[in-house]
Amino acid sequence: MRIANIIQRNKVILRPMREENFEIMFKWLNDIEVMRYWYGRDKPRSLDWIRKHFTPSIKGQTNSTYWIIESDSEPVGYVCNTAEKNDNGEFLGKVEVDILIGDKSRWEKGIGSDALKAMIDYAFNIQKAERVFLTPRVTNNRAIHVYEKVGFKKEGILRHFEKFEGKWVDNAIMSILRGEFKE
Ligand SMILES: CC(C)(COP(=O)(O)OP(=O)(O)OC[C@H]1O[C@@H](n2cnc3c(N)ncnc32)[C@H](O)[C@@H]1OP(=O)(O)O)[C@@H](O)C(=O)NCCC(=O)NCCS
Repeated sequence: MRIANIIQRNKVILRPMREENFEIMFKWLNDIEVMRYWYGRDKPRSLDWIRKHFTPSIKGQTNSTYWIIESDSEPVGYVCNTAEKNDNGEFLGKVEVDILIGDKSRWEKGIGSDALKAMIDYAFNIQKAERVFLTPRVTNNRAIHVYEKVGFKKEGILRHFEKFEGKWVDNAIMSILRGEFKE
C-alpha cells in the first residue's frame, strides 16, 4: 500500500518518521518521566538502538509504520501503526496502534486525542481496516481514558502480558470496529 505523506487533524500533523527525527526521539526515550509510561524507567535507549529499531520500518521492510506527531510545527511524539498481514503480505483487516507524546510539556493539551482520531480515520478510510486495537497497561489510567474518549471499548484483560520494570503486568485490550467509527 502506498503511504500518504501527511495526515492532518485539528492541532496535529502526522508525517512518516525519518532518520532526522532520531535525535529528538533519543531525548524522549531517555526521559525518565516519559519512560515510566513507555518502555520502562529501567530501559533507556541509545541512539544506536533507535537507529536499529526504527530504520527497517522507515525503509518499509516491516508491517509497522511510524508517524511523527507535530504540533505548532514541532515534533512532539509518534504513533505506531501495525497492519496485520498473512505470509503473502495480504492485509488481514486488523491494525494495532500505539502512541507516545514524548514531549511531556505537551501532555494533556488534546494532542494525543487528535493524533489518535487522525490515525483511526487513516486506518478505516485508507487502510480499510475492520478493527483497530491497542493494549495499554491496566495502570495507565490517562491513556485508557483517552482511548475510551476517542471511541475504543475495553474487551478484556491480557494477564501478565509484558514484563515491565522487572514485574509481570496486565494489559487491557481495547478496540474500535469499522461500524463504530464516527467522523
Ligand atoms: C497517553 C497520551 C497519548 C495522551 O495524550 P494527551 O495529549 O496527553 O491526552 P489529551 O490531552 O488528548 O487527553 C487527556 C485526558 O486524560 C485525562 N487524564 C489525565 N490524567 C488522568 C488520569 N490519571 N486518569 C484518567 N484520566 C486522566 C484528562 O483529564 C483528559 O481528559 P478530558 O479531555 O476528558 O478532560 C500521552 O499523555 C502520552 O503519550 N503519555 C505518555 C506515554 C503513554 O502513556 N502512551 C500510551 C501507552 S498505552
